[in-house]
Amino acid sequence: MAESDPGEATGLIRAASADGGGGRGETGGFVGRERELARLIDALADLSDGPHVVLVLGEAGIGKTRLVDEFSAAARASATIFRGTCDARTMRAFQPFAEALLRYARDTGSEECRRDLGPLAVRLGPLVPEWADPSATRDDTYSSRMQASEQDDARLELFDAIIEFFVRQCATQSCVLVLEDIHWASLASLRMLRHLAGAPAEFPLLIVTTCRNLDAVSDEALDCVTDLMREPRTLRIELSGLEEEALASLAAELRMPDPENAAKLLRARTNGNALFATHLLAHAQMGGELTEVPSTVRNLISQRIAQLDEPTVEVLRIASVIGSPFSYRVLAAAAMVDENVLMTAVEHAQTKGFIVEANDPDTVYSFAHELIRDVLDTGVSKRWRSRLHGIIADAIDSCAASGDAATRLTLLAYHWSMTDSA
Ligand SMILES: Nc1ncnc2c1ncn2[C@@H]1O[C@H](COP(=O)(O)OP(=O)(O)O)[C@@H](O)[C@H]1O
Ligand SMILES: [Mg+2]
Repeated sequence: MAESDPGEATGLIRAASADGGGGRGETGGFVGRERELARLIDALADLSDGPHVVLVLGEAGIGKTRLVDEFSAAARASATIFRGTCDARTMRAFQPFAEALLRYARDTGSEECRRDLGPLAVRLGPLVPEWADPSATRDDTYSSRMQASEQDDARLELFDAIIEFFVRQCATQSCVLVLEDIHWASLASLRMLRHLAGAPAEFPLLIVTTCRNLDAVSDEALDCVTDLMREPRTLRIELSGLEEEALASLAAELRMPDPENAAKLLRARTNGNALFATHLLAHAQMGGELTEVPSTVRNLISQRIAQLDEPTVEVLRIASVIGSPFSYRVLAAAAMVDENVLMTAVEHAQTKGFIVEANDPDTVYSFAHELIRDVLDTGVSKRWRSRLHGIIADAIDSCAASGDAATRLTLLAYHWSMTDSA
C-alpha cells in the first residue's frame, strides 16, 4: 500500500486527540506517530477489495496500544470498532475473537443480538455462550463447545460464521477489528485470523493487530503470522522509539523546565520507549531527577529480568558491567562459560528484547535501552563488580585484534580504573 502524506489525515488526527485517546481512557497528550496514524487511516479508506490486515510491531512499551487506541478513536466516526486482546496467561482458543464479540454483545444487548443475527448467533455460540442454542443439553458447556469447535469440521463452520458476522456488520459501514498482542495468540486464533483476512468476499474490514517482535511468537504460530505478512493486503508498521521532537513535546506538556534538554536525556536513557519515557517524566514531576531510575521502572524491568533463566541473567549482568555496546568476543572472554551456554543466553536475551545486535562486522550488541543496563548493573555486588572490571580489562586486552586501537585503550583504562575504585 502506498505511503501517504500525514497531512491528509489531519482532520481525523484532530478528532482522535479531541476524543482523549482510545479505549483505555488515556488522558496524556499523544505525541509523534503522525505518519503511522496516517497510514492506518489511509488503510481504512482503501478496503474496496475486501479485508486488509495491519500488523503493528514493536517492543513492549513502545506505544502499539496507544497508537491503535488513537486510531480507533479517530475511526469511530466512520467505522464500527471491535476489539479483543490475547492474554499470556490463558492462551484460550479464539480468545480475542470471543472477547470482541462479547463486548459487542454487551454493548448491543444479548437479546437484541440474538434477534438481529438469527441462526448466525447460534453458529457463533462457541464464542459467545449466551448466543448458544437454548435447547442445548446441560453437558454442552462452553468449554466443550470450544473444544468441539477446534475439530476440523466444526472449526470450518465457526470460521465461516465469523466471516458471515463481519460481512453483515460491514454492510452498513466499514469495521475495524483490533486484535491486540497476537504474539500470545493461540494457533486456533491465528488460523481464524488468517481465514477471515483471506475471505474471498469483498467487505470493508480492517484487521489491526499488534505484536511484539516476531521472535516472541511461538514456532508453530509463526507460520501463520508469516503467511499473513506475505499477503499483499497486509501492511506492516514497525514502531521504533519516539524521536527527540516528540519527547520534547511530552516534556513540554508536563512543564519540564528545559524540554529540549530533557528530550535528549530521555532519548539516551530510554531509546524513545514511550512507557519508560513517561515514567521518567512522572518521576521528574514528583521532584526526582531524569537521570535516576524511578522505582516504578526498576520494578517493571526487574519483573522482566525475573522471567529469564539464570545463565541468561548472569551473562547479561556481565555485559552490563562491560557497558553498551559490548562485543560478543569480550563477553565470551569475560563470562568464561561454555560457548553453547553463552550463545543460548545471548540469543534468549535478544529474543526477549533485552539486547539488540548492532550492524557491525564484529558481533556487537547493545542493550535495548540504558535503563535495562542500569538495572542489571545495580544487581552486581560491589566486590564482584571490581573483580569483573579486571576480568573485562584482560578480556579486552586478549581480544586485541578487534575494534579500533583508541577505543580499546579508552575502554581498558576505564575498566582498570574501576577495579580500584569500585
Ligand atoms: N505517542 C505517544 N504519545 C504519548 N504517550 C504515549 C505514546 N505512545 C505510548 N504512550 C504511552 O506510553 C505507555 C506505553 O504505551 P503502550 O501503547 O501501552 O505500549 P505497548 O502497547 O507497545 O506495550 C502508555 O502509558 C501510553 O499512553
Ligand atoms: Mg500494548
